[in-house]
Amino acid sequence: MTRHILITGGAGFIAGNLVHHWAAAHPNDNLVVLDALTYAGNRATIEPLIAAGQIRFVEGDIGDRTLVDVLLAEHAITHIAHLAAESHVDRSISGPAAFLSTNVGGTFTLLEAFRTHWLAAGSPASWRFLHVSTDEVFGSLEPSDPPFNETTAYAPRSPYAASKAASDHLARAWQHTYGLPVLVSNCSNNYGPFHFPEKLIPLTLINILLGRPIPVYGDGANVRDWLFVEDHCRALERILLSGEPGHTYCIGGNNEVSNLDLVHQLCDLVDELASDQGLALPQRPSRELIRFVTDRPGHDRRYAIDASHIREALGWEPRVTVSEGLRRTVAWYLANRSWWEPLLSDDYSAYLVGQYAGQLS
Ligand code: NAD
Ligand code: DAU
Repeated sequence: MTRHILITGGAGFIAGNLVHHWAAAHPNDNLVVLDALTYAGNRATIEPLIAAGQIRFVEGDIGDRTLVDVLLAEHAITHIAHLAAESHVDRSISGPAAFLSTNVGGTFTLLEAFRTHWLAAGSPASWRFLHVSTDEVFGSLEPSDPPFNETTAYAPRSPYAASKAASDHLARAWQHTYGLPVLVSNCSNNYGPFHFPEKLIPLTLINILLGRPIPVYGDGANVRDWLFVEDHCRALERILLSGEPGHTYCIGGNNEVSNLDLVHQLCDLVDELASDQGLALPQRPSRELIRFVTDRPGHDRRYAIDASHIREALGWEPRVTVSEGLRRTVAWYLANRSWWEPLLSDDYSAYLVGQYAGQLS
């Protein structure tokens, strides 16, 4: 069977990496990307594949039912990997409306459009809808708590997490009630190439390269479980091809690191790789750029994932260690200034001023 796959949010960080991964691994599949090109969407991430005719790109909103209906029919879509979302916690605190609209309303529209399309085709058992979600739906862990797994109760605590939790519930309800072949994944923090500058890792790297202060929220002791994005893409591939509809898969890196430790590692790596390349940095050592700033309201203390279910059920586990992944990421940001520099627009500068309330000068 030829797969006709719609990847939503394909001009963003994870879905952009997934598009590259899938196009290389499955060149006979037809790939269509639907992306609204919000501030976080960057066509340049997938432009070479569009230009080479390897994928089709449609600019549009997942909440536009007419557009989605036409797209599903025209491209005879059999699989959806749904990643389009508003994804930044800080923006969900200052402006939650877009999160409700895209993450909840947009997911509802996609589920309904796919259900109609699937019914019209005679409800093929081989079709799939993979709803990509986050570990933030589970809330926050204490230091001695066991990691989240597929049976952990939902306890979202930010507007972003609440909107993702709502969309997860919709996705599971569509599977249970209508028999739509839906799968759900909940992943920990990703890092790697094509990561928008507002998130901690690219923000740190870009600020080092520009000689700007590195903002660390609160005491820097919050813990995240970091996964190299390529490993997440391999997990999504496994789930889409071999996962069981109605099942949930927790994906994580088994790499718990505090924010301050992580920022220290990044500073040291940039210092080392810049020296190797004979590149002068505006400030050395980079650790001197670190500033402790006002904490994120409601900041979750710790996330961690127990990924044993996906390992046992689908044979997936991470391949890239955190030291290798961070090194590759730092090297990518050093080599790809032409990707991230255009993203530092006036709008983005205004966002930084509002978000950090002048604490970065
Ligand atoms: P991102 O913000 O980098 O990209 C989101 C993409 O979605 C952008 O290209 C944007 O233009 C597009 N988009 C936004 N609203 C849209 C709309 N209404 N219609 C069509 N396109 C729209 O996000 P990301 O970090 O790559 O996350 C992708 C998905 O993975 C999200 O669903 C997120 O919740 C989930 N996730 C992210 C992480 C992480 O660490 N970044 C971890 C686990 C799960
Ligand atoms: O856990 C998965 C989630 O990971 C995804 O669902 C989200 O889409 C993704 O953005 C990410 O959320 P986080 O809030 O964990 O990522 P962020 O990069 O914003 O922050 C990582 C940690 O660093 C977090 O504890 C907050 C802290 N931080 C962040 C920023 C932007 C700082 O200390 N300073 C900062 O300036």
